[in-house]
Amino acid sequence: MKTAITELFGIQHPIIQGGMHYVGFAELAAAVSNAGGLGIITGLTQKTPRDLTAEIARCHEMTDKPFGVNLTFLPTVTAPDYPGYIDAIIDGGVRIVETAGRNPQEHLPRLKAAGCKIIHKCTSVRHSLKAQTIGCDVISVDGFECGGHPGEDDIPNMILLPRAADELDIPFVASGGMADARSLVASLAMGAEGINMGTRFIATQEAPVHDNVKQAILAATELDTRLVMRPLRNTERVLNNAAVERLLDKERDLGANLKIQHIMDEVAGVYPKIMQNGDLDAGVWSCGMVAGLINDIPTCDELIQRIMSEAETLIQERLISIVV
Ligand SMILES: Cc1cc2nc3c(=O)[nH]c(=O)nc-3n(C[C@H](O)[C@H](O)[C@H](O)COP(=O)(O)O)c2cc1C
Repeated sequence: MKTAITELFGIQHPIIQGGMHYVGFAELAAAVSNAGGLGIITGLTQKTPRDLTAEIARCHEMTDKPFGVNLTFLPTVTAPDYPGYIDAIIDGGVRIVETAGRNPQEHLPRLKAAGCKIIHKCTSVRHSLKAQTIGCDVISVDGFECGGHPGEDDIPNMILLPRAADELDIPFVASGGMADARSLVASLAMGAEGINMGTRFIATQEAPVHDNVKQAILAATELDTRLVMRPLRNTERVLNNAAVERLLDKERDLGANLKIQHIMDEVAGVYPKIMQNGDLDAGVWSCGMVAGLINDIPTCDELIQRIMSEAETLIQERLISIVV
């Protein structure tokens, strides 16, 4: 397949692996890029810009294909050293940056001057249009189904993608709920130039997370995610577990009085315990509804090859045969 995304990024297949905290290490990014997709290292999982420099160097050792770095601008008590992380990206020779969370405008001049292409992740048409105006190159349109932060509008991709297609001039990829060839072909039909997957890539051989996490995704159905932190307008879609139940109880009990301080035990510093130690109930962790479509743990190469070959069959056999 040749789309605006494969051309812009110099990749073989229109499939991106979204940044994921404590999942998007060099091993996964390199495996996705080696399989012909676009792998992405999660910048802030690296504790300092120096650590990110080392992680980028490790990834270069594992692949000679293009890969990107995710920079997430979420509400935090003390802002990370974003200019330092941007130095690490530029000096490390990475030229594709996935931004997410707040408007990345203040950081764009440096990134663009260095020749970086920016994919900004947006959960609404209005944010996508803003990102286009400030000079982002690609939008990752992230529907309500997605694992992680779906925003506050709750518009699923069946509506959001065609709305984005109607409004945007720059290319976009479909993100949230993407798992297989059907996701890819449907997204292309709705105007996207490719897909971005998070949860699906966690259940792969190369994802450097504890096997408990992969097995939990396999066991989960589409009914097993919950939305937390809605009262704080920082909604996150997570896999249900004991910590999620505790957090939702607090949300119900405290109502409008809920503050982030009340839920620190469930949300702060929990990712290493979950992703690395496999302690699944240690806190809340992002997971998409798409868990209901995930039933195996292939290599990234097997996954991407399967999506591409089944997509071709879907288009050339099923879709063409319907047109009489
Ligand atoms: C465990 C996990 C951690 C994530 N961490 C981040 C993150 O740090 N920054 C970010 O921009 N997106 C993050 N995401 C969102 C993904 O990049 C992607 O947009 C999302 O997973 C797409 O939805 P899907 O899971 O249905 O494929 C995370 C998602 C998951 C499942």
